[in-house]
This record gives sequence, structure tokens and C-alpha cells, in this order.
Amino acid sequence: MGFNIAIDGPAGAGKSTIAKMIAAKMGYIYVDTGAMYRAMALYLLREKAATEQIDGKCQEADITIAYENGEQVVYLNGENVNAYIRTEEVGRMASVSSPNPQVRKKLTQLQQKLAADTDVVMDGRDIGTCVLPDAQVKVYLTADSHERALRRYKELVEKGESCDLETIEKDIIERDRQDMTREISPLKQAEDAVLIDSSHMTVEEVANAVIALCQSGKQL
Ligand code: DC
Repeated sequence: MGFNIAIDGPAGAGKSTIAKMIAAKMGYIYVDTGAMYRAMALYLLREKAATEQIDGKCQEADITIAYENGEQVVYLNGENVNAYIRTEEVGRMASVSSPNPQVRKKLTQLQQKLAADTDVVMDGRDIGTCVLPDAQVKVYLTADSHERALRRYKELVEKGESCDLETIEKDIIERDRQDMTREISPLKQAEDAVLIDSSHMTVEEVANAVIALCQSGKQL
């Protein structure tokens, strides 16, 4: 088994920023599992699959990942779909399709295979609890919903998109509720995960805290 770092937490807590930074600093592979759920959602949208068709349709989606210029690239039936998976529409579909047991089974197997003999930093919702229960380091990264909304708001403003802070915060709270209350693999802190609340921390401070955990984990 490679050295596995699992980072879970709600939307907007900074998981991918931190995971990417740690992967770069430690020379590990970053695995963004949300991107896989998004690629599956994109397939289901393109196929106009109704909720009751997800079980069957998800079996037709061959999702693989590769690394090109240090970036994770998601392939859906052979097509690079990175440019299409970050939309609000795909995000909404992903929260509908990700609770499906067949979808989770398929993507969990892929994620476990990736981590089997490679050093990885993997982020998602169920990595420490279900995908990599034996990960050497588990972090549950969170921040209060107002702070997460503010970060998202600033990102959108920087991109020149018009948006409303209150709506973003409402959306975040709703996504949290869906992720935390679903029956299979709900978002929750693993018993052996270290809780980091990034509300009042810089990105560097959070990354350093995780790296310190990895260093102590390696000495165990
Ligand atoms: O982190 P993200 O916004 O890219 O995730 C997209 C969706 O996939 C979101 O609804 C949560 C879900 N997801 C999941 O259920 N399990 C994971 N390991 C990662 C993401």
C-alpha cells in the first residue's frame, strides 16, 4: 500500500486547494474524487437519464483518470471532459446521482485501485470513512458556512460573474444537508480523522498542519 492521505469535508472548505498543495510539496498524486462524480453526472445529463435509470445507465460510463502536465484529467468513454464538469448544472446533477449505490460502488473501486500502490492525497466526502479506511492520515477539513460562502463569492467576483452572497450561502447549507443525510456513505468525520477548521486559517497554515500530521504518521 502507498502512503494515503484522505481529506474529507463539506463543499467549499478548501479541500482541493490544500490537497493539491500537499501533493505538490510531497510529490504525491492528487486524486479529486468529486471530479469523477461530476463526470458520471455529465454522462447521465447527456443521456437524459431519469433518476430510476441511473442504476443501468451508470454501467455504460467508463471513467478513467490520467495526469497531464501535473493536472488530473478525467476521461469519460475516452473523451477528456475536464472542460465540462465544473458547471452548476453538472454540480446539481452530481448531488442527485452521487447517492446512488451503483454509482458509488463503481467509483469507489476505481479510487481504491488508484491508491493501492501509489502515494496519494485523495479528497472527497467518504474517503476516510469508506474508500480508504486504512489511510495513514485522515483529515476532516471544514469551515463555517458563511466563510465558505464568502470564499466562493470572491472566486466568482474575480471571474467577473455576478452573484449574491446570501444565495451562495443558502446553496452551501443545502449541499451540506444533502451530503450529510444521504443513506450511503454520508459526509461525516471518520472516528480517527483529525478535525481542522480552516475558518480563520490561511491556506499555508492548513497545508503545514496536514504535512505535520503526515510526518508524525510516517514515524508510527
Ligand atoms: O467536491 P465536488 O463539489 O466536486 O463534488 C461533486 C459532488 O460529488 C458532490 O455532490 C458530492 C459528491 N461526492 C461524493 O459524494 N463523494 C465523493 N467522494 C466526492 C464527491
